[in-house]
Amino acid sequence: MNTSLMLRRGAWVIAAVVATAALSAFAGDKGDREDRDDDGGSNSYVQHGFELVPKGVKLDLMGKNRALVGLGSYIVNTSGCIECHSHPAYAPGGNPFKGEPEMIDSTVYLSGGRKFGPVITSANITPDNAGNPAGLTRAQFIQTLRTGHNPNDPAGEILQIMPWPAIGKKTDRDLSAIYEYLRSIPSLPDNPNPGP
Ligand code: HEC
Repeated sequence: MNTSLMLRRGAWVIAAVVATAALSAFAGDKGDREDRDDDGGSNSYVQHGFELVPKGVKLDLMGKNRALVGLGSYIVNTSGCIECHSHPAYAPGGNPFKGEPEMIDSTVYLSGGRKFGPVITSANITPDNAGNPAGLTRAQFIQTLRTGHNPNDPAGEILQIMPWPAIGKKTDRDLSAIYEYLRSIPSLPDNPNPGP
């Protein structure tokens, strides 16, 4: 092989390597984004979210965006919302903090009632009679998590204990997904037996 042919071959090899790298970088990026959006595939947030819905919690998917519900379930059921917003969080014999196999108490799922000191009680975040979680529209809900102020509360009131400074940093899509999931869970009355 003469030198100029070798040089040309070398250039092709380099071009091929660069093209492959660029393609796989693009594919990786696309894959990550689709993983948040699709509702199939073994690694999907959406699919995993549906798997995480606690036993006994029957979702109403009528008129809901299924992909958002799944993503919202993924977020809600992996972010400690249950521990603070359900009282008790676990059914008898199902408390993982006692080394028992986890069984979430679906009868009070996210209906609030966990007391933090004498004044602060976690809110019922299940849908109200109109189907709005915590009685909030989607825009009000997102605003509440972003600012810590529920627009229905008196001016200047800021949610305490509730980790809104962290949760409120999520994307619009994530917050909307949380809302969509909460729209689909059963509506429950405020927890009748609040306690620590
Ligand atoms: C560390 C405990 C804790 C965790 C974790 C937590 N919350 Fe809260 N949340 C609270 C408490 C307590 C309140 C009521 C605060 C107050 O009244 O000042 C609250 C209030 C709220 C409110 C406002 C309701 C209203 O009527 O004003 C929403 C919405 C909410 N939480 C959603 C969530 C979601 C969704 C998650 C999980 C992504 C979550 N919370 C995780 C403790 C928690």
